Amino acid sequence: MAPSRSLLTVFSLLFVAQACSSAKIEWGPCQDGEFNFTLTEVQCGTLSVPLDYTSKVSNQSIELELVKVLAPVQPSRGSIQLNFGGPGVPTRNYAVAVGPVLQILSGGVYDLIGFDPRGTGKTIPFVCTDDAFTIGQMLSEDFRSTLESDTMGRRMWERARVDANICLRGGNGNKTGEFVGTAFVARDVMSVAEAAGEDGLLRYWGFSYGTTLGATLVSMFPDKVDKVILDGVQNAHEYYHAHADYEEWTDSDSIFSYFFESCLTAPPGRCALSALNKTAAELERDAWAFIDSLNTAPMPAGTTLVDSAIVKGYILGQLKYTGTWLLFSSLLATLVYGTRSEAIRTLEFIVEEAEATGELGVDSFDIQDNLWAIHCGDRTVRLDSWETQETEGVFERLYNTSRLVGDIVTPISAHCAQWPWRAKESYDGDFNVKTRKPVLVASNTRDSHTPLRSAKNLTAGLEGSGLLEVKATGHATLNAPSVCGYLATVAYWLNGTLPQEGRVCEAPHPFVDYGWEDVLMEVGVGNATAVQRRALNPLKRRGWL
Ligand SMILES: *[C@@H]1O[C@H](CO)[C@@H](O)[C@H](O)[C@H]1NC(C)=O
Ligand SMILES: *[C@@H]1O[C@H](CO)[C@@H](O)[C@H](O)[C@H]1NC(C)=O
Ligand SMILES: *[C@@H]1O[C@H](CO)[C@@H](O)[C@H](O)[C@H]1NC(C)=O
Ligand SMILES: *[C@@H]1O[C@H](CO)[C@@H](O)[C@H](O)[C@H]1NC(C)=O
Ligand SMILES: *[C@@H]1O[C@H](CO)[C@@H](O)[C@H](O)[C@H]1NC(C)=O
Ligand SMILES: *[C@@H]1O[C@H](CO)[C@@H](O)[C@H](O)[C@H]1NC(C)=O
Ligand SMILES: *[C@@H]1O[C@H](CO)[C@@H](O)[C@H](O)[C@H]1NC(C)=O
Ligand SMILES: *[C@@H]1O[C@H](CO)[C@@H](O)[C@H](O)[C@H]1NC(C)=O
Repeated sequence: MAPSRSLLTVFSLLFVAQACSSAKIEWGPCQDGEFNFTLTEVQCGTLSVPLDYTSKVSNQSIELELVKVLAPVQPSRGSIQLNFGGPGVPTRNYAVAVGPVLQILSGGVYDLIGFDPRGTGKTIPFVCTDDAFTIGQMLSEDFRSTLESDTMGRRMWERARVDANICLRGGNGNKTGEFVGTAFVARDVMSVAEAAGEDGLLRYWGFSYGTTLGATLVSMFPDKVDKVILDGVQNAHEYYHAHADYEEWTDSDSIFSYFFESCLTAPPGRCALSALNKTAAELERDAWAFIDSLNTAPMPAGTTLVDSAIVKGYILGQLKYTGTWLLFSSLLATLVYGTRSEAIRTLEFIVEEAEATGELGVDSFDIQDNLWAIHCGDRTVRLDSWETQETEGVFERLYNTSRLVGDIVTPISAHCAQWPWRAKESYDGDFNVKTRKPVLVASNTRDSHTPLRSAKNLTAGLEGSGLLEVKATGHATLNAPSVCGYLATVAYWLNGTLPQEGRVCEAPHPFVDYGWEDVLMEVGVGNATAVQRRALNPLKRRGWL
């Protein structure tokens, strides 16, 4: 896709964390037409926060632009703040787009608040360059398959250095690079909670990287926790202190295998590959033969030269949400078993879809300067040069972790290893805290991006927290609709109830067509288009309201 321009221990003496506690957010209509696409009621507001929470002298501030998706039941019980991950994903648009589902999952009684985290969208976006030629160079070289040969690895490493130079010399890096770290975003979230005119306590719902922000939040402000759900968990220890996010990709390969296995048990007509009279292992072997063939014979698809890295990125994107598997299985059947010209036509379709929908689906198509800025600034470690055993070990370990993902995510580590900025503040505790109220951690059994083990790791550190496990496939339980997951999530938001220890929620077969609308039908809520109000009936019946 086109490069997205939108896209407690440290210094504790310095902080006046509760600064500006008198500020209060004024809510009003949003700018004309900004959220035209939504059916729910939305308001906007702004809050001024310090640019640099660690400085005693600077009085520079930044404006957070906030959006609030109003609860169908008013007056609401307060608001829940959101983060959808990346890092680098702006929150405002997602909050409005996903809002209706989150309203249902929170019982319809909470407002939902989002602001773009620093470095993204409307909040001091981190920009490396606006120069189209330079962007073109970054795009054409990044995210190529890197470890197929030593030369490619070396090239990727030096490319990352050049990218860092571009960010240093162009764009606004020197003005923003130090200020976009996660600890500052956590303080922004608390500033919003304090200025929301409620109880000043933290209600927060984070997905994917949003769980790292969430783990940081509850560790920095354990006494402020009212209700927090962290869904699709990243290992926050590795996020900050390792050279790569190894653990994130531990289950990616096995979930790719599971795609083929579950294809063969899918209901008739739901998986195109099942008609081929092949075993799951044979299907997977053939798919890999196709992927590998692109190393030596890449395919021209419109304006994109498709190589194995791009196809692997596409596949990784498809593993996020099984709702796409019907289409994915038929596209893959054509790629692997069709003629070359059929394959090229299919790739053109895939590339066009990816360009139309933005970053969703094809992880590898984006230059991700705001991801680098946030993640690399947060990282506490660097690497000296390409020619050290340590560097070699990092990339080899990533490669060993996943055949599907290992090499396409190495550029992130290469950029972070040579990144010129460090976040002005970082949380460097161990995430072992006792929160005021228990946190709910959530994960699917099979998550290609954030494995269940990371959720268990976080749960072990947060005293009193509970784990919601949904026996489904996809990235975060939000992407895996189930009645049991719905009931557990609603019970937590309405009543603070944690799932029974060891309880695992059942979910439908991944190739069955099943969405949150179906969940609502099953629990008797009816039609998703009229969802906000009707969502409440079964909850009333269950005595939650
Ligand atoms: C949104 O709606 C307003 C009022 O109807 C209209 O003027 C505006 O052009 C629309 N904006 C978009 C982006 O569609
Ligand atoms: C911020 O600080 C500078 C220098 O200390 C001062 O000149 C300026 O008036 C201050 N601005 C505000 C809004 O307080
Ligand atoms: C950016 O900041 C660094 C460190 O302060 C400085 O060495 C470098 O010259 C600055 N670069 C530009 C282009 O301003
Ligand atoms: C399916 O494959 C098996 C083993 O390769 C073969 O014996 C069988 O005849 C095939 N069935 C059909 C319908 O092609
Ligand atoms: C990667 O896997 C190879 C082969 O199993 C092994 O020899 C090597 O030690 C592994 N490297 C790392 C860094 O884990
Ligand atoms: C969590 O993960 C970190 C990083 O891999 C590890 O050091 C730590 O021991 C783990 N904690 C638990 C309880 O497994
Ligand atoms: C609400 O919480 C109370 C106390 O924690 C518990 O006994 C009750 O079963 C919960 N109700 C629901 C509907 O989850
Ligand atoms: C939901 O409501 C819409 C509009 O009222 C209607 O067209 C649709 O058929 C309904 N769907 C179901 C599953 O009832």
